[in-house]
Amino acid sequence: MERRQFLQYAGSSVAAIALAQCTRSANQQRPQLPLVSADGSLTVGLTATEQKVNLAGQSAQLLAYNGQVPGPLWEVQAGNTVVVNFTNGLAQPTNLHFHGLHIPPTGNADNVFVSVPSGEQFRYEFAITPTHPGGLFWYHPHHHGLVAEQLAGGLAGPLIVRGAVDEIPEIRAASETVLVLQDFDLTWRGRRREPTPIFRRWGRQGDLIAVNGDRAPAVTIPQRGLLRLRLLNASTSRIYRLRLENHPWHLIGMDGSTLAAPLALDDLILAPGNRADVLVAGDRDPGAYTLMSLPYDRGISDMMAAMEGDAVPRVEAATGAIAQLQYGDATAEVSLPPTLLPSPVLAAPSRRREFVLDHGIDGEQAFLINGRGFAHDRVDTTVQLGTVEAWHIVNKAGMDHPFHLHTNAFQIVGRNGAPVPTPLWQDVVNIPAYESVDLLVPFADFVGKTVYHCHILDHEDQGMMGIIEMQAGAAYRPTPPIMT
Ligand code: C2O
Ligand code: CU
Ligand code: CU
Repeated sequence: MERRQFLQYAGSSVAAIALAQCTRSANQQRPQLPLVSADGSLTVGLTATEQKVNLAGQSAQLLAYNGQVPGPLWEVQAGNTVVVNFTNGLAQPTNLHFHGLHIPPTGNADNVFVSVPSGEQFRYEFAITPTHPGGLFWYHPHHHGLVAEQLAGGLAGPLIVRGAVDEIPEIRAASETVLVLQDFDLTWRGRRREPTPIFRRWGRQGDLIAVNGDRAPAVTIPQRGLLRLRLLNASTSRIYRLRLENHPWHLIGMDGSTLAAPLALDDLILAPGNRADVLVAGDRDPGAYTLMSLPYDRGISDMMAAMEGDAVPRVEAATGAIAQLQYGDATAEVSLPPTLLPSPVLAAPSRRREFVLDHGIDGEQAFLINGRGFAHDRVDTTVQLGTVEAWHIVNKAGMDHPFHLHTNAFQIVGRNGAPVPTPLWQDVVNIPAYESVDLLVPFADFVGKTVYHCHILDHEDQGMMGIIEMQAGAAYRPTPPIMT
């Protein structure tokens, strides 16, 4: 009951991490300046390496992009072109995925079937349409079988797209901080621990929570002004339940979308892959307020009951600080915007499908969608461009599974058979153990093959992924399925 309530506030589950960019404080040793597009494009070099990194005040042997954990913050405008000259300096293959972007899933754009061998380079290039939603997105490896390992090593970076939401006057005037949440399982020497079989089954989780590579960084709330906190859960498996203690906060968007109006938040649930866009109005007693991470049970008790032997996974410390929010100097008064952006209106769904998430035996068949584990040469779902589909996703297992679709975001319209009060747009939706969700999914603009999967990346690596092919069939007319 309590849990259901949290889910409705957040619309789903996810977690986030941030890169502090605009605010400074003693704790923020490494304020990252974003790499910002100019003259309509952003060209970046990105190299993945295994190396020593300073993480939360200790030295750790991690996987880093350009020597940083998390990777550099990129910032572009809707309508820009992005070029990433990528070098794989790892000892194993990898690739890149641009999580949440509505761009082609083919060629050298957001193509997760590309494999970049150790020591080789690949040039990614894509255009972000002028009408692309503004939001927080992210890049991370997507090489099937190695995704959990590479994310748990630290490979993830945030990407801001500026769009219509950024033109709202109050939001323009807000001070902005990106927080990237990652968890690590390290030995006292700072080496990554190999997950035990049971940890791999549950989804590896570490007890060191790093926020922008730091421990509970300080963030300034402008007194009388607005703080825009942008949270990204870049953790491999951990679902965060976040609470801003003794201070109101408002959700303005999830993943790459914006709400019609700010929504008062209680607890915010962030599943792996989820992002939340939140406003904190500096209209309370000036002081310090803690953003806390609270316990969230994603099914470990059920799993423990079903398994024997092996060591019990070390479940995370129950509660901890994610960030310390402190009032700063008084600024010009800015209050919460009364409204944000109109919600897109969808055409009626032309087809209904069901996806059943369940557990199998082991290896490639340990986690299943509709009874099957992932096969790279099998198309599981074929859809037509220009249509909207109603997807019913059922979790028949005793563990949460956050469901993610590439290329197109979806609207969450139902949970457990009942309509949701605020149908949010997301690209990852958590489905708690034995629950179900109903989604409306518009297929727009891009043909080709891509994937949907559980964003607990150990589950994805062990089979909980399917291939979807988007086709422009005879019936296709380039009428957008989304009308704004
Ligand atoms: Cu963030 Cu297919 O992943
Ligand atoms: Cu993705
Ligand atoms: Cu899962």
